[in-house]
Amino acid sequence: MSLSHVATIILAAGKGSRMNSEMPKVLHPVAGIPMIGHLIAAVDILNPEISIVVVSPEQNDVVKYVSPINTTVQNVPLGTGHAVSAAISKFRNFEGDVLVLFGDTPLITCATMQAMIDARRAKENPAAVVLGFRCKNANAYGRLVLEDGKLVRIVEVADASPEQLQNDFCNSGIMVFDGKRLEQLLGEISNTNSTGEYYLTDVISIAREKGWLCKALEAPDYLEVMGVNSRSDLAMAEAAMQIRLRNAAMKKGTTLIDPSSVWFSADTIVGKDITIAPNVWFGLGVHISNNVSIRSFCHIEGAFIDEYSVIGPFARLRPGANIGREVSIGNYVEVKNTTVKEHVKINHLAYVGDSTVEAEANIGAGAITCNYDGIKKTETKIGKGAFIGSNTALVAPVTVGDGAIIGAGSTITDDVPADALALTRATADVREGWANRFRRGKSAKIKNKGP
Ligand code: UD1
Ligand code: CA
Repeated sequence: MSLSHVATIILAAGKGSRMNSEMPKVLHPVAGIPMIGHLIAAVDILNPEISIVVVSPEQNDVVKYVSPINTTVQNVPLGTGHAVSAAISKFRNFEGDVLVLFGDTPLITCATMQAMIDARRAKENPAAVVLGFRCKNANAYGRLVLEDGKLVRIVEVADASPEQLQNDFCNSGIMVFDGKRLEQLLGEISNTNSTGEYYLTDVISIAREKGWLCKALEAPDYLEVMGVNSRSDLAMAEAAMQIRLRNAAMKKGTTLIDPSSVWFSADTIVGKDITIAPNVWFGLGVHISNNVSIRSFCHIEGAFIDEYSVIGPFARLRPGANIGREVSIGNYVEVKNTTVKEHVKINHLAYVGDSTVEAEANIGAGAITCNYDGIKKTETKIGKGAFIGSNTALVAPVTVGDGAIIGAGSTITDDVPADALALTRATADVREGWANRFRRGKSAKIKNKGP
């Protein structure tokens, strides 16, 4: 979708003091990416002609994150109306629609933005269209006042009478304006209200005084427009986003045995005929191919998993884990920055880091790569069809050749040629009958100590 004559402003300045955080509110993550990232992704689909993010002077991290989208600084956070005014020079007399989005309202979809633009472009040519939603007794949202189906005013909670608060039609904060009339509306906002802020919401009564029509559009669902002001709101937004991501995964052909216990990141890629058991966490950068099975209690981030592989239960795939086809990664196995080729088995209690494991290799229980010497990390190469016995320590940098066998309990510090056997094993000191003599000696001592 590409919309000509559309500009977007995302408001991200302001203190966000109810979050009680050192981090700007809009950078708090939902499904692994900052709130504002969700808005940017939706706006990207819309592909507006101009977009701008309004930030506070100290919000360099926000500027960096939203780049290459341009930012403008609102020097003092004097309210949402003041914030839009801070960006007006970029939209002066814009021949089209200006969509204002709030950085703390991350669940808004592109389809709803599009519906708002369509409503603004309707024949009746409203000066503004505001997105509302129904919610009883809300104490964080302004109220939309309608007369004869027209939006005539928005009343902020701090300024509302008890009767006005009975109105359950709430303001999502998201609005679209006729670009040619926006500057005039902003210029007349005053701060004579209970908080002393310049409310963007005042533009509606200002438009009405000018005889300009304003309309309200009702959002399909409260969760799409909820604003995040506190950590509890953040948890609610996360829950709502997870429901969306789980449904999208199931629609793509992934079975979630217990959807509520599977946590996705916004960028998790899934395919068809994948089964994900309960209690699985996906961090950022995960791509799961068709026909993969993820068993319970896995923690997976920055990993690619090719077709027909089985992961877990209790496996950890860390960034750079590149798992080939029909690989088996079992319980208590950790893989990091490692390419594991097809048909490899790493079934129990292993750590494989900074390595390449060629096809059909088998890594036994308790085997580990010692990839870090306290200063730097080095690489381990495990050849095709190699067999790494249980409890082996492969001290990197080291290469195990194709088809080689490492005996259980070995510590391997030098390269092992293809098809060789390597083992480092102390000879057992076996003393016939020693155990019996030991036990007899112990029981004699106990008897001698008797009453
Ligand atoms: C606002 C609306 C309220 C609506 C609610 C929806 C106003 C006056 N009130 O209230 O009617 O129901 O959102 O969630 O608009 N911001 C700036 N600069 C500022 C102040 C805020 O950029 O000076 C940004 C914030 O980063 C935030 C957004 O604007 O992303 C909304 O600000 P916030 O203070 O959270 O407004 P609410 O009190 O929630
Ligand atoms: Ca808010």
